[in-house]
Amino acid sequence: MKRAACLLLCLAGCAQAAAPAASVRVGRYEIVGNGVTLQLSAPRADILRIRAAAGALGEDASWAVAAGIRATTQPLSVTEDAAGITLDTGQLRARIDRHSLHLRIEDAAGRVVFEDAPGTSLSFGRSPLAAAAPTLRLAMPDDAHYFGLGDKAGPLDRRGQSFALWNTDAGDFTPTTDPLYKSIPFLLVARESGSSAGLFVDTPWRSHFDFGRSERDTLVIGAEGGGVDCYVMTAPDPKGIVRAYAWLTGTPPLAPLWALGFQQSRYSYLDESAARGIADRLRAERIPADALYLDIDYQDRNRPFTVSKSAYPDLAGLVARLSAQDLRLVLITDPHIARAPDQGYAPYDSGLAQGYFVRGADGRPLVAEVWPGPAVFPDFTRPDVRSWWGGLYTDFVRAGVAGFWNDMNEPAIFQRRDKTMPLDAVHRIAEPGLAARDAGHAEVHNVYGMLNSRATYEGLLKLSPAQRPFVLTRASYAGGQKYAATWTGDNSSSWSHLRQSVPQLVNLSLSGFSLAGADIGGFAGSAASPDLLTRWIQVGAFTPLFRDHAAKEKPAQEPWVDGEAHTAIRRRYIEERYRLLPYLYALEEESSRSGLPLMRPVFLEFPSVLASGESLYFSQDQFMLGPDLLVAPPPDGESAGAYRIRLPGEGWYDYWTGQRVSGARLVETPRIDRLPVFVRPGTMLPRQGLVQSTRQRPQGPLQIDVYPGPDCGGQLYLDDGESFAYRNGDYLRQALHCRIGPQALAIDFDAREGRHRPWWTDITVIVHGQAGQPARIRLGTRTLAGDYDAAQGTLRIALPDLPAAASLRIETGATQR
Ligand code: GLC
Repeated sequence: MKRAACLLLCLAGCAQAAAPAASVRVGRYEIVGNGVTLQLSAPRADILRIRAAAGALGEDASWAVAAGIRATTQPLSVTEDAAGITLDTGQLRARIDRHSLHLRIEDAAGRVVFEDAPGTSLSFGRSPLAAAAPTLRLAMPDDAHYFGLGDKAGPLDRRGQSFALWNTDAGDFTPTTDPLYKSIPFLLVARESGSSAGLFVDTPWRSHFDFGRSERDTLVIGAEGGGVDCYVMTAPDPKGIVRAYAWLTGTPPLAPLWALGFQQSRYSYLDESAARGIADRLRAERIPADALYLDIDYQDRNRPFTVSKSAYPDLAGLVARLSAQDLRLVLITDPHIARAPDQGYAPYDSGLAQGYFVRGADGRPLVAEVWPGPAVFPDFTRPDVRSWWGGLYTDFVRAGVAGFWNDMNEPAIFQRRDKTMPLDAVHRIAEPGLAARDAGHAEVHNVYGMLNSRATYEGLLKLSPAQRPFVLTRASYAGGQKYAATWTGDNSSSWSHLRQSVPQLVNLSLSGFSLAGADIGGFAGSAASPDLLTRWIQVGAFTPLFRDHAAKEKPAQEPWVDGEAHTAIRRRYIEERYRLLPYLYALEEESSRSGLPLMRPVFLEFPSVLASGESLYFSQDQFMLGPDLLVAPPPDGESAGAYRIRLPGEGWYDYWTGQRVSGARLVETPRIDRLPVFVRPGTMLPRQGLVQSTRQRPQGPLQIDVYPGPDCGGQLYLDDGESFAYRNGDYLRQALHCRIGPQALAIDFDAREGRHRPWWTDITVIVHGQAGQPARIRLGTRTLAGDYDAAQGTLRIALPDLPAAASLRIETGATQR
């Protein structure tokens, strides 16, 4: 080994350039050893950024982290001694060995957050694609569990698995297929000992994450090019890590309310009468629904941004007809543009004339086969191309189309073994804040889908500035949550796929994409059995994006296809979804501010389950929807055998009956008409009257179910559901609390924020778990009547709307049960 040269370079905020004896404070710290440059900075005291390169550091650039965040540095206090350097942010302490550059990062309590594996440190090798390919080798403590990495298949905990990140059209994937459609190099590490850490490895290059599979207890992370640019996060709990990652890469925008409704899709409703038939049937069957999707066959010869005149002669007319049925239309718009010279196909002609397509190694637009036949590909790394792409939506937006679906944007290419562009295809990077240059596809591939959805999102915003855009993307990268919702791609109609969808969606949710779903019923494969589709609709009703979609060759998969008995069960769950919208929408809004997802692993709410040693049993199949609902589908759907459910603690309530369940260990015998769902003790759950679409105004009062318990509370959030007026005060936010006292249950409404007028004029409070008729109910100084149901143990109280702070006291005269 060459003797290490150690050099303290400067250093924003550094007073002297010479190596200091005592501690000094700097903004960035750089050290060179063994030909490797290592730079540390802290955009926040709980986030350490580590950049490294073989030789000099490359450009400070990112597709995921905004320049302003990358430029921010909190003071690092630097202490040097003969063996090494210690950098301290107050919350994170990095210790660098002067000679080997071995790195160890601890939290303020001295617990190791990350450490290079014994005897190793970051190294650079060669890859066929780039001069230097970095490898990190990190120690994996025994009690550490690894989550995130997007919707990679396999178990919830990544430990023992290995994955490649390379966006791939993985049609008909199985639980062992890898890579899949997205690349989200973010990890949440949760330790049984109680600490939590995050690691975001910001590289668009093909990368590999091996969680102790090939080297015991070693997390090996390698990328095929670029330098190292990663962020280490610490937080008191796993939620803090999710929030820190959202701070770095952005939160999802507040989606329109209708995006939380039931969405019906298929490949394809082949003509207008088929689409109208589905809409009519949804309404005739009284299946609540908000959106109908048209897949590629609505287009003329699969050419994006065209409409087949024979199949869909009057798109605007269809939109209007659907709208009269309170349904919205979503259209697929794939990124490939048909290569159709001299045919009056404007997307091709205008893109070609302006040089907007990705070039092959020969400098000419790259042509490859996809749905339309030979096609060309917009170069989304250029802002002018993105803005041109956004403009292609003009006619659709004018026609009233509500949302757009960006598929095939890995980018997918047919008839090639690698299913995508050749790596020597050339993109032009012209991003503000990034050095303008040509870049090979290897460096852009993993961000192509994200930039496609960004172009769509930004284009829609420009065309219709008052409307919140809805974009659904298949491929993406870290930070892509800022532009689009997503789904897990072409799953299959099998019980194992239904089971797999839970850990996929939970990990995707932890990786920033809170509005995510799996194709309900399964996309590929043979027909979903009636039981499978019913169960999938039940589980899907409690996942963020609730879309039924099926492949072309499959029999119909709409909710009514298996006869009235199944339809009735499916309808009941879809209806329940709509009743829950006040809860779901408040979660969605919270997610747009904090990044906390709707769908959560149990340990995110109850980190102590990790220490129980049963952590994975807890969370592989069971999941939380928000902080209050725990959903426990049967793990083996085909089996009629009983299965075990573990609740995190005692005192939970059955969602369907409102009754307390006894104990935390339950044995459930699967029944096709029941999906077990439980409510956390301490929940105030808002629900609304049934509607057939989010367009309709719910009738009757707002219902607030109170499930007394510790940390009791809930949230109301409401706005117009589609515009940005909420940013200017047109919203309603109100916190609810409840306290169990020795002789009374107090239910408090905080004062309401915002000026949005709610749809309700009355509130019904239903208190569960009540042992007896209350002695008295008071709202402020008024005495109210309550309706006590002894058989159910519920107390029902009718209230006027309570926009101002108010306190309801239910005096039991007896201790609460
Ligand atoms: C891809 C998509 C699928 C879509 C099909 C046709 O396979 O993943 O959802 O239906 O293409 O557009």
